[in-house]
Amino acid sequence: MKNSTKPIILTGDTPTGNLHLGHWVGSIENRVKMQDDYNCFFIIANIQGFTTRYDRPQEVRENVIEVALDYLASGIDPKRSNIFIQSEIPAIAELTVLLSMLVPFPRVLRNPTLKDEIRDKGLGENYPFGFAMYPISNAADILAFRADVVPVGEDQIPHLELARELARKFNQLYCSVDSHTPDEEYIKKGGLFPIVEPKIGRIKRLVGIGHPNEMGQLPKMSKSLNNAIFLKDSADEIHKKVMAMYTDPKRLRATDPGSIENNPLWIFHETFNPDQAWVKAAEEKYQTGNIGDVECKKKLIEVLVALTEPMRKRRAEYEKDRGAVLTILRDGTAHANEVTEKTLALAKAAMQQDYFSRKIDLW
Ligand code: TRP
Repeated sequence: MKNSTKPIILTGDTPTGNLHLGHWVGSIENRVKMQDDYNCFFIIANIQGFTTRYDRPQEVRENVIEVALDYLASGIDPKRSNIFIQSEIPAIAELTVLLSMLVPFPRVLRNPTLKDEIRDKGLGENYPFGFAMYPISNAADILAFRADVVPVGEDQIPHLELARELARKFNQLYCSVDSHTPDEEYIKKGGLFPIVEPKIGRIKRLVGIGHPNEMGQLPKMSKSLNNAIFLKDSADEIHKKVMAMYTDPKRLRATDPGSIENNPLWIFHETFNPDQAWVKAAEEKYQTGNIGDVECKKKLIEVLVALTEPMRKRRAEYEKDRGAVLTILRDGTAHANEVTEKTLALAKAAMQQDYFSRKIDLW
């Protein structure tokens, strides 16, 4: 049940498309496991989606529902966890403005994740002001819940570091916490915001199913690189994708010795196959030319279909009743507003800018 005495988790996704196996091992798998022991809030960051898709509102709207369906399909249980929509939480927007005073602008631009995105998406110098500001908003998402833990992929670490810096700064400036205080003692010393801890998934970066790039590296799984297996893919789609998957190109027949290095077939077996004894034995045979690619691919298909089967079932149920999905989002958002309004009121009080009270109703 939703219980406010447990430690708080806040994490989520920008709704830019369906979730894939990289999301599963990077973060979703952890979220599903942590639902009983933590008070969980999962944000669908649609305003963050607008930082690069402000001209495609319909696409963002559709992806909000798609991500919600992917969450529910993965086993995020709306009875235990809260799924909510960022744009319906005014406290996040307000906290973004308040926190933006506490960090120098050049420090925001030094964020490596931001720099990578500018390079990878070819944004040049034409990105909107709101894009440069999103790391602050990302920190506000976390701090608005006074989250203790954030389960995320490795690429989000720079955002977490900023959230930690902003929390320390706020606590020092407005709650009189001494700057030499160890991170874990900020709350005990009267701070408002805990110094949040990341929880990284068991696989930091899952490769895609396609060929290596010019530098010989396998790119990470991503929708935009067209190398993803989605959680919602049918058994048929999984079959096709795995059969066409990149493996060792030097191996022409089953009797050729193959390499398991930099080979998605084996990276996937090692990551997803529950029968690791089979994997070790098959890797031996593969390296000595005693097993065919097709046999190993068929085994991988079985493994991936079994992993995603319960997800397809749950998704089919929810897809029949989109009204119920919206109700789940509304209830999760209402609960998120209760929590974040409290934080915002405390933050304003700490800043001596508390004048009136207010209440938010959703329907
Ligand atoms: N930045 C995350 C992404 O690109 C999404 C996100 C928004 C998030 N707010 C967050 C993740 C807060 C963790 C915590 O997918």
